[in-house]
Amino acid sequence: MLQTAPRAPSDDKRWRMVDTRMRRLGFSPDGLIEVLHTAQEAFGYLEPEALDYIGASLGVPPSRVYGVATFYSHFTLKPKGRHTCVVCTGTACYINGAGAILRRIEDDLHVRPGETTEDEEVSLLTARCIGACSLAPAVVLDGRIQGKLGPDDVMNRLEQL
Ligand code: FES
Repeated sequence: MLQTAPRAPSDDKRWRMVDTRMRRLGFSPDGLIEVLHTAQEAFGYLEPEALDYIGASLGVPPSRVYGVATFYSHFTLKPKGRHTCVVCTGTACYINGAGAILRRIEDDLHVRPGETTEDEEVSLLTARCIGACSLAPAVVLDGRIQGKLGPDDVMNRLEQL
């Protein structure tokens, strides 16, 4: 019987990076950790939709996907802040000022990557490359990729949230 392939949770271009990795690994269940790694590098954290999609694509039961994602401290599950701010620290973004953006957020909001502000408004995360190098430095605010912003712009947008 023909099975339809699972659909990516959204049309976010970052799913292409995850799809490419899964294809290269032949959609093998053994590639689970590697694919979770790719998803986290692209999104900064693993949300439930990502875990479900990757599990369904590789034929790995959800219990095992969640087990792996929670067992390894390297993986970050969806943070608890009302808003998420992912700063890309990949090479293109880094040489275009991602470090200054990160420092400014850390200083102003008193939060470090992987943490949530005390009022639980903003969770700060980093990603290795979100596939938007032409927009470097790029940040993702509540799932929306924004590029070519300086530290002031990012703080303004965060305040608007
Ligand atoms: S390095 Fe930041 S989007 Fe590629």
